[in-house]
Amino acid sequence: MLEIRDLRVVIAGKPVLDGLSLFVAEREVVGLIGAPGCGKSTLLKSVFGLVPVAAGEIRYGGRDVANRCAREQILSGIVLVAQGGQVFRGLPVEENLYLAGYTLDPKHTAERIEVIYDFFPRLKERRAQAAGLLSGGERQMLALGMGLIPEPSLLLLDEPSTGLSPLLTERILAEVKALTKKLGCTVVVVEQNVKNALLVSDRVVVLQRGRIGYEHTVDAGTDSKPLLEAYAFS
Ligand SMILES: Nc1ncnc2c1ncn2[C@@H]1O[C@H](COP(=O)(O)OP(=O)(O)OP(=O)(O)O)[C@@H](O)[C@H]1O
Ligand SMILES: [Mg+2]
Repeated sequence: MLEIRDLRVVIAGKPVLDGLSLFVAEREVVGLIGAPGCGKSTLLKSVFGLVPVAAGEIRYGGRDVANRCAREQILSGIVLVAQGGQVFRGLPVEENLYLAGYTLDPKHTAERIEVIYDFFPRLKERRAQAAGLLSGGERQMLALGMGLIPEPSLLLLDEPSTGLSPLLTERILAEVKALTKKLGCTVVVVEQNVKNALLVSDRVVVLQRGRIGYEHTVDAGTDSKPLLEAYAFS
C-alpha cells in the first residue's frame, strides 16, 4: 500500500537517504529505528512532502505521491505527527484540534473532536487550557489527537514517546497500537528504543547508511538479538 523505491533525499548537499526501498502493507505497523541523525525523520518528512525527493518513487494506494505538498498528502489520507509533539502552545487545546481539521468542513471537524475526546478524556478535561501548559504526556496525546482528526489511513509518527517516563511511554504506545488497530490505520512509527519499537510494531526495520539495512518481523517469534546488533551498528 505504501511503496517506496530507490528513494534518494539530499539535504544540504549530503545524501541522507540513498537508494532506500520500503513496502508497508495495509494496516501494518512498522517500527523504524536507527542511530541519531541517520535520516528517520527525513524519511517520514519525504513521504509527507516536507523535504524534496531527489530520485526514486513514493506510491501510496497505487498513486505517485512524491513531491506533493502536505495539504495534498492529508487529502490522500497521509498524516505526519512530527517529532517533539508539535502543537500551537499559545492556543487552547480545542483550538489546536480545530486547526488540525483545516482540510475538513468545520461541522465534520467538530464531530471528529468528539471522537478524539472519547479516545483521550484527558484532552476534554483540558479543552480550554493553553496547549503550552499541558504536561509532556498530555502534549503527545494532543499531537496524536491532532494527527487523527483528518482520519488518516497512513499515520507517520515520529518518536511519539520522546521525553516521557517509561510508564507513560508504554501507555502512549499501547494507545497507538489499540487506536490504529481499531481505526484500521497503516502506521510507520519512529522509535529510539528497540524495546518500545518491538512493543508497538508488527515489523521493525533498521535504517543504516541511507537504506533499510535490516528488518525483523515481530510475530515470527524469532530471536531479536540480530535486530539489536543491527541497531547498534546503524
Ligand atoms: N534542514 C536541515 N539542514 C541541514 N541538515 C539537516 C536538515 N535536516 C536534517 N539534516 C541532517 O540530516 C541528517 C538526518 O536528519 P534526521 O532528522 O532525519 O535524523 P534522525 O534519524 O531523525 O535523527 P534523530 O534520531 O536525532 O531524530 C542529519 O545529519 C541532520 O543533521
Ligand atoms: Mg528524528
